[in-house]
Amino acid sequence: MAIFENKQDKTFTLYTDNTMYQMRVDRYGVLQNAYYGKRMEYTDMSYAVYEGNTCFSPNPLDLGYSYSNNHVPQELSVCGVGDFRINALALRNADGSLAADPKFLSAEIIKGKYSIPGLPAFYGEEGETLVITLKDKLYDIYFHLYYGVFEKYDLITKAVRIENKTDKEIKLERALSATLDLPNGRYDMISFYGRHARERMYERTHIKHSKVTVSSVRGASSHMENPFVIIADKNANEEYGNAWGMALVYSGNFEITAEMDLMDKTRAVIGINSENFNYGVGPGETFCTPEVAFVYSGEGFGKLSNCYHKAIRNNLCRGEYKYAERPVLINNWEATYFNFNADKLVSMAKDAAEIGVELFVMDDGWFGHRNDDTTSLGDWFPNEEKLQGTLKSLAERINNEGMRFGIWFEPECISAESKLYSEHPDYAFKIPGREAQVSRNQYILDYSRKEVCDNIYEQLCKVLESANISYVKWDFNRHISDLYSVVLPPERQGEVYHRYMLGLYDLLERITSKFPHILFESCSGGGGRFDCGMLYYMPQVWTSDNSDAIDRLKIQYGTSFAYPVRTMGAHVSVCPNHQTARVTPLKTRGNVAYFGTYGLELDITRMTDEEKTEIKRQIKEFKKYYDLIQYGDYYRLISPFNVEESLYCAWETVREDGSEALVCAVRYDSDANSAPETVKVRGLCPDKLYRINGSEQKYLGSALMNIGFRLAYDFVSYPSRLYHITLA
Ligand code: GLA
Repeated sequence: MAIFENKQDKTFTLYTDNTMYQMRVDRYGVLQNAYYGKRMEYTDMSYAVYEGNTCFSPNPLDLGYSYSNNHVPQELSVCGVGDFRINALALRNADGSLAADPKFLSAEIIKGKYSIPGLPAFYGEEGETLVITLKDKLYDIYFHLYYGVFEKYDLITKAVRIENKTDKEIKLERALSATLDLPNGRYDMISFYGRHARERMYERTHIKHSKVTVSSVRGASSHMENPFVIIADKNANEEYGNAWGMALVYSGNFEITAEMDLMDKTRAVIGINSENFNYGVGPGETFCTPEVAFVYSGEGFGKLSNCYHKAIRNNLCRGEYKYAERPVLINNWEATYFNFNADKLVSMAKDAAEIGVELFVMDDGWFGHRNDDTTSLGDWFPNEEKLQGTLKSLAERINNEGMRFGIWFEPECISAESKLYSEHPDYAFKIPGREAQVSRNQYILDYSRKEVCDNIYEQLCKVLESANISYVKWDFNRHISDLYSVVLPPERQGEVYHRYMLGLYDLLERITSKFPHILFESCSGGGGRFDCGMLYYMPQVWTSDNSDAIDRLKIQYGTSFAYPVRTMGAHVSVCPNHQTARVTPLKTRGNVAYFGTYGLELDITRMTDEEKTEIKRQIKEFKKYYDLIQYGDYYRLISPFNVEESLYCAWETVREDGSEALVCAVRYDSDANSAPETVKVRGLCPDKLYRINGSEQKYLGSALMNIGFRLAYDFVSYPSRLYHITLA
């Protein structure tokens, strides 16, 4: 049992293996958050809650200065009734007031994890659910707070369902998913910013009295910020300190804001971005927020990441490829860009098959009359001239080389120059009377409309049924501007961003369940939509359009804070690299791509025999370590963001029982006569002896963890090594 109600203390306590989350109903019926942190024996934590003082904080008439909404830690923080901090809910009532006064009504414990209609969410029978219902003091408006508990992974999820039982429409002007109130201490926010080809860069900011926000208003979670942050003790690091992770299971606009309040308590909120959000909930209707997934770790970021990794692998990703070995693929994008025909693709497939590649992916440019990025999005029928026959015949030719066949789509976008646009210009977002912006020459389809999604669904099904297709890359290469849905009235335009996401998720659900044998990879100009929402539908994501092994260190390192290696698309590409012009050893490119899905993104027909032999070796080596890499505990050992401290980046995967580990160390800079560097390993058994790469020398587990071992120095640019650590 993970959920306990104590009727006498009026508390609800959620337990995971290492954490405890306690709520209590106070004397006003407000559901407070009393504690979230390290697991303890049950005790009523309400003594620790600070409820108020003067300081211009409003209070109930009968309680004087001792209680104020402006101080109480609230499970559903609302604006308008005396809480001046950042809060989760702004509700416009039919009477025009902006207020809500949610008071405890009932609670229910349910076996299994709740789901959210139309939205992605963690799932699993082993989870448990607590539903607490609050009711507005004045109106028949109900707030159902859903808590999911996954004990083994220290993961607690939360979502809110707002139910309007009045006879008039209410408007949600802000409807975030959760509030995290931390009573004391000084904290940092760790977030992951970036841009195209430079996603998820680690950044650490002190939370002070002004607000710290990461957000997106781009209609996608985006390259620029990620809907995941860690709030941590100021001195927390990979191994030590309190850290609270917050991941939003959503792929659209989001905001995460933290601030220290007037009494130096820290509050953070997370959910759908309130900009251009205004959602009507009619009589009898409900609105569900996306889910947020919390992990608390008392042992720093390494532990926190491993909890997310396991939960995402086991309780978020779905489908046949959840555990199945993913094929090593070759993608033709960097090899040919738009310039290919079937013969070229087949020659690549033939050479790739010979060295052990299993899947050939035909990227952009196979449909309509698309030979550059100006046309044909929306026209999902094969260009048979370019394919020198039907799609079916091309798939057969690839299959005959012993390879599976995959294909690229960008289903949410539409080119002005397309049949679809000429027939249905209103399918694209455009504000009446204004010219819509293009980005990469394309518009966005209005996925808030069912008929638009249906049109694309039919087209995609036709293609996927027409040939033996084993893989789909689902791309999204621009962000949403000029938002306006012609089928909604003016007062509902604030719903369109979220309705777009609901339409997209519905389409993804339909397509992925209709084609369960297909492996879907999500992409958005590389890693522009790498979030828990997309991972519910597609178990891997193209991490970045930047395939340079050295830049990838930072990108994959940053991505790893929340997302497991198994979800990160990573390919070996040619040198000089197409994004950076850098020349790196092929071995280093392979070693970095191992800590992802490993694939190729190059013209294999132009590789030398020596290079092909090296790639063949890499595929074998990757397969040898496949389980260890994909399912081991992952630790970041040396940060590529710490340039002053080290010239290396190192990470590790280790079996849960400590019996075997693989460390990858890459030197990303050179200097003469540099000092020797060591790396400390994690997750080994302290008392056991180990060998490194089959060495004669035996090393004690604790020695490797406390002092570490010296990294080899190879006199080349950007050298890398794998260190395979096994029991002696
Ligand atoms: C995006 C993707 C690339 C490639 C191109 C094709 O940029 O990230 O991998 O598929 O689109 O246009």
